[in-house]
Amino acid sequence: MPADTRKYRSAKAYGKIDRDGFIHRSWMKNQGLPDDVFDGRPVIGICNTWSELAPCHGHLRELAEHVKRGVWEAGGLPLEFPAMALGETQMRPTAMLFRNLLAMEVEESIRANPIDGVVLLGGCDKTTPGQLMGAASVDLPTIVVSAGPMLNGTFKGRQIGSGTDVWRFSEDVRAGAMSMEDFLAAEAGMSRSSGTCMTMGTASTIASLIEAMGLCLPDNAALPAVDARRRTLAHLSGRRIVELVRADVRLSQIATRAAFENAILMHAAIGGSTNAVIHLLALAGRLGVPLALEDFDAIGRTTPLLVNLMPSGAFLMEDFCYAGGVGAVLKALGPALRADAVTVCGRTIGDIAAAAACYNDQVIGTRDRPFGPSSGVWVLGGNLCPQGAIIKPSAATPALLRHEGRAVVFEDIEDYKARLDDPDLPIDERSVMVLKGCGPKGYPGMPEVGNMALPAKLLNRGVRDLLRISDARMSGTAFGAVILHVAPESEAGGPLGLVETGDVIRFDGPARRLDLLVEDRTLASRRQNWRPTQKRPSRGWAKLYVDTVQQADKGCDLDFLAGASGAEVERESH
Ligand code: FES
Repeated sequence: MPADTRKYRSAKAYGKIDRDGFIHRSWMKNQGLPDDVFDGRPVIGICNTWSELAPCHGHLRELAEHVKRGVWEAGGLPLEFPAMALGETQMRPTAMLFRNLLAMEVEESIRANPIDGVVLLGGCDKTTPGQLMGAASVDLPTIVVSAGPMLNGTFKGRQIGSGTDVWRFSEDVRAGAMSMEDFLAAEAGMSRSSGTCMTMGTASTIASLIEAMGLCLPDNAALPAVDARRRTLAHLSGRRIVELVRADVRLSQIATRAAFENAILMHAAIGGSTNAVIHLLALAGRLGVPLALEDFDAIGRTTPLLVNLMPSGAFLMEDFCYAGGVGAVLKALGPALRADAVTVCGRTIGDIAAAAACYNDQVIGTRDRPFGPSSGVWVLGGNLCPQGAIIKPSAATPALLRHEGRAVVFEDIEDYKARLDDPDLPIDERSVMVLKGCGPKGYPGMPEVGNMALPAKLLNRGVRDLLRISDARMSGTAFGAVILHVAPESEAGGPLGLVETGDVIRFDGPARRLDLLVEDRTLASRRQNWRPTQKRPSRGWAKLYVDTVQQADKGCDLDFLAGASGAEVERESH
């Protein structure tokens, strides 16, 4: 029988020589586990978001088996458990509505169960942030193993990128430049293996930032999902998490302010998804790391675009992997990197950067030979966004980064869809499209609709970009002069809700200003008549979400979930 002197957290369940210990062990033995695996060894939870409804995670069951091999080999006990999968392309009204629900599930699953460390298996956009937020509020030793990107897409002899080419093709169809037959034929060529979007969309961005933060083993971000080396990485991560438990290296010791700064530098260097801003703010809020929206602009400002990947460039994640991946970008960041930040693999991020190399300078550049100027995100202020807004300049038409034009307002997504192609819509190439009702409370969930498609009558005239403003997000695979995350959102009473068609809006990107050029007294009068317009959920998760969600500048976490509750559970279950 096991002795009652265990040093790990799991000993409070499996190490007890009494009725409670009997209960904890006996039911686990119905899975064929022998007595000696309850001898005080580290118990490793493998949090698996596999689901056939999250197609980017279709191979995670197999990957979990490789993690288990490593855990067994290192002398741990692996126990896999499921967590809600957030299939970005399947869930309505938006997967983002459920990120915090996943975070709650992961947090409580980890805390409630007798585990000492955790491996997070995820990858599709909101999944890794949700898992990490939950894990951070418990703060056990934690390693991320990402799903990894799909193989490059191909169609009619050329490479096509997840999401990015959907937006392009769809505009081409509306402009008459592509047949519907070709459009539908491209579906299968775009998604031809397991894994996440292979552009530098949100999944690849988050994976790259996680690697820059040292929360996974090197090469985790870019190895294709189907590459045998990803299975090896899973195996090694299984070994490593056992060592982290033995050394008691917790998530909060890795995800420090320095790690977040490295993530912001990486975000700028890769021209990363705007969604990452929200997720990093939320994660920092769980950990108590001081991080503000303005940090993204201030820290990333001097970092040029070092990666030539869609949607800001030409290549895809497979090319990025073969060119050296995140390690090569860390090296290219040079002295800007917080080199002393520690990582889960035991080396500093500076050591990892020093050992890396670039194998293709068409894909990964240097500070002396970047692919674009300062590229992270610009964080805007001004009377239209008192709590901030962002734009990704590397994805925008440069001429629109300083622009003044008259607003064409859509009150919500239904209004936009109904009137977009109305021949009488008063819109031209100087107009500013404004979309309301798409923030965290308004939609609810803040969907990826900020990159509004342009009216067909402008597309037919060759117009491919307009200044667009909303309280929504946009897909990390999307592009355009798109100002996002306006806070407060219109439904929360933000000035965005007061904009009317014909108002003049001035955007001065270099000065980081977004202003509505309407007299104060006019705005005051409009405010007196303003009322929320969107239907409020009356029950369930959606009601809890809308009642408690914070604005984009706080990462859209629920207000009562910020911070941590730790790993202790005082009471027994029987
Ligand atoms: Fe899953 Fe893009 S849809 S990563």
